[in-house]
Amino acid sequence: MKRAFKWVGAVLGLALLVTVGVSGWAYARAMGKVQRHWDIQPAAVAVPDDEASVKEGQRLFGARGCRKCHGDDAAGALILDVPLLGTVYGANLTRGAGSAVLAYTDVDWVRTVRHGIKPSGYPTEVMDSKEYQYMTDGDLGLILSYLRSAPPVDRQNPPLKITALSYIFHGLDWLDVTTADQVDHERRHDAEVAPSAAPEFGKYVLRLQCQGCHGETLSGGKLSGAPGLPIPPNLTPDDETGLGKWTYADFTTAMRTGKRPDGRMIDPFMPWDAYAAMSEDELTAVWTYLRAQPPRKFGGR
Ligand code: HEC
Ligand code: HEC
Repeated sequence: MKRAFKWVGAVLGLALLVTVGVSGWAYARAMGKVQRHWDIQPAAVAVPDDEASVKEGQRLFGARGCRKCHGDDAAGALILDVPLLGTVYGANLTRGAGSAVLAYTDVDWVRTVRHGIKPSGYPTEVMDSKEYQYMTDGDLGLILSYLRSAPPVDRQNPPLKITALSYIFHGLDWLDVTTADQVDHERRHDAEVAPSAAPEFGKYVLRLQCQGCHGETLSGGKLSGAPGLPIPPNLTPDDETGLGKWTYADFTTAMRTGKRPDGRMIDPFMPWDAYAAMSEDELTAVWTYLRAQPPRKFGGR
């Protein structure tokens, strides 16, 4: 009996040592990413200043996801408040007291949004540029057009509080706290697709906003990362495992209200409340592109 206890103790001790060792390694790896200094000088984008552009920019601020984290008034929203993971607010992007962007140059905007790097040269945390790296000059210029004219709001958001556990998950690649090292900083934006209802524009929107979750081939499948996340389904027109039997109306209702044809709600892990701001043209473009894909079986990602 005594001997058995000894063995159990030894195994538990070893498990503890391994856990502490792996955690320490992962934490150090995450700190390497957070403290990495980048020196990147992208080109600025043209920012239109007519009224129609400001309005379209405000729509895109919602449709492209910024509003979810930066709030309806662009002065910052609570994004995460989970004791184990941290408390995180999006920054105040207006010119009021507490603004994060008062000293921003045109180039700083591009570096933050498309490269995931702040003017200090250190990576943004929580804000994700893996996908935003694909944003066209056109979209970014319109969003900046809105932000430049957004009414100043005085709000000092609490500083980011990210727990050691989140950094350990980051070090294990379960959670993206920083994304600068997943961006192609040499990416060229000169062959850009103009907004329209055509499938080429749908391809752009899917690349920018959907493929990170639904997969490169859009056939869905389990996300690598923290266990327990809902599984992105197949968006290709396969009859059994995809959207083969969906109509365009089914699709627009799902994107605007989160409701599937069978009445089940789409888990809010997919930010469909933000996509409600997508235009009819954008939805048509995305749908037309999806319908032109070969039907694939679920799970190839
Ligand atoms: C997932 C949530 C999220 C989304 C989506 C998001 N942001 Fe952010 N953003 C943040 C957080 C969190 C910070 C603070 C980051 C930090 O301090 O490291 C931030 C910071 C910023 C900053 C200031 C960085 C600095 O210098 O302190 C700018 C500018 C910015 N975001 C612009 C945008 C724009 C434009 C969009 C949409 C294209 C956007 N963000 C989408 C979460 C988000
Ligand atoms: C953050 C990850 C994420 C992003 C980004 C995302 N989705 Fe999803 N999507 C999901 C998940 C997960 C589900 C399933 C949710 C559930 O199980 O309730 C889903 C469900 C769907 C459904 C319902 C399909 C079905 O068979 O039930 C459609 C349609 C859809 N997504 C389209 C899109 C489009 C189009 C985009 C881009 C504009 C997009 N999604 C972006 C994760 C995402």
